[in-house]
Amino acid sequence: MDSVTKRYPDGTVAVDRLSLEIPDRSITVLVGPSGCGKTTTLRMINRMVEPTEGTILLDGADLQQQPVTTLRRSMGYVIQNAGLFQHRTILDNIATVPRMTGWGKHKSRARAAELMERVGLDASLGKRYPYQLSGGQQQRVGVARALAADPPVLLMDEPFSAVDPVVRKGLQDELLRIQDELGKTIVFVTHDIDEAIKLGTMVAVMRTGGRLAQFAPPAELLSDPADAFVEDFLGADRGIRRLSFFPSAALELTRGPVVRADATAEQLAAADGAAHLLVTDADDRPLGWAEPGDLGAGRPADRRLLPYGRPFVPGTDSLRAALDCAVLSPTGWAVAVDSDGRVTGVVSQQTIGEAIRTAHGTAAGTGGSAPAEDAADVTKVAP
Ligand SMILES: Nc1ncnc2c1ncn2[C@@H]1O[C@H](COP(=O)(O)OP(=O)(O)O)[C@@H](O)[C@H]1O
Ligand SMILES: [Mg+2]
Repeated sequence: MDSVTKRYPDGTVAVDRLSLEIPDRSITVLVGPSGCGKTTTLRMINRMVEPTEGTILLDGADLQQQPVTTLRRSMGYVIQNAGLFQHRTILDNIATVPRMTGWGKHKSRARAAELMERVGLDASLGKRYPYQLSGGQQQRVGVARALAADPPVLLMDEPFSAVDPVVRKGLQDELLRIQDELGKTIVFVTHDIDEAIKLGTMVAVMRTGGRLAQFAPPAELLSDPADAFVEDFLGADRGIRRLSFFPSAALELTRGPVVRADATAEQLAAADGAAHLLVTDADDRPLGWAEPGDLGAGRPADRRLLPYGRPFVPGTDSLRAALDCAVLSPTGWAVAVDSDGRVTGVVSQQTIGEAIRTAHGTAAGTGGSAPAEDAADVTKVAP
């Protein structure tokens, strides 16, 4: 969109000279406080609202030149509370657009059933009515309905805002999974900055008056907020949250303090000097921490073990997850495991702290030992 303005008839400027280049086949999030023009922007994309000034191009063609019905069919639309037809079954709700575009009843229903599976809904719910579903399930139906005609573009307006945090997390994860499979061009509106950071490939932060404050990938928002408004909107712990974008794979692990429950006196002696020892079973799964004096050779000392907390998986988990594990650990050491839960080593808070300083230094361009292209390589890892 190029310098798009929307002035409503009463004079309200909802969107003010907004220019955005929305990338194909990824999720672009519009985020900002209530009333900053997010919904208006989204509705200008499917022409439910016409801009007062400026142009919106889709694949290089002016939206203004395209018939509204064709345009809408190429864009799925999902809103808060799903906006389902209450008097139609779930299957018929999802089949709405295919039916409208002339698919037969049978084919439309088959498509609807396939989509229910895709969004994680049990087939048995197909014959129910919307009021018989939970809020989270209804929201999934809303997503399935929007996907029914396989549109290249998906517009989503606060779709998960009305459900509780646990269900919401499930819906977000599901959307990321679906997006991995389908590669739609998604424009997602939310007022929740954490949701924006989790879902967005690119995030547009808007301020009241419909002006763009910053348009950047989430990691860049967190490292380089454009101004005090963006910084304030991101919240107080942006430094910690930013660590979600750095992998923990490069952390240097040590096996020094790791011993098996049936370790011999000799093996225990080899771990001499460590303040705490991580005891594992014969299968290398963690049992807990012990002080060296509490361990007699050849017998497990489960009763004296301190909990090992939550382990992290280097390569999958982020630096933030590793730090969290160390902070939660009674010894200040985080336990690293492989994907099967077998201990691969332990790492101290201090070592993690050094890795954090390197990570921050690298991305901020203020030195640090890693080459500059590493900063550009920062990708999402599990928080
Ligand atoms: N149909 C309308 N007529 C007049 N003002 C409107 C209309 N729709 C929205 N607005 C105003 O435009 C501004 C942006 O609204 P909206 O796009 O809904 O914001 P958001 O979705 O970010 O909360 C608000 O001040 C709102 O009151
Ligand atoms: Mg809105």
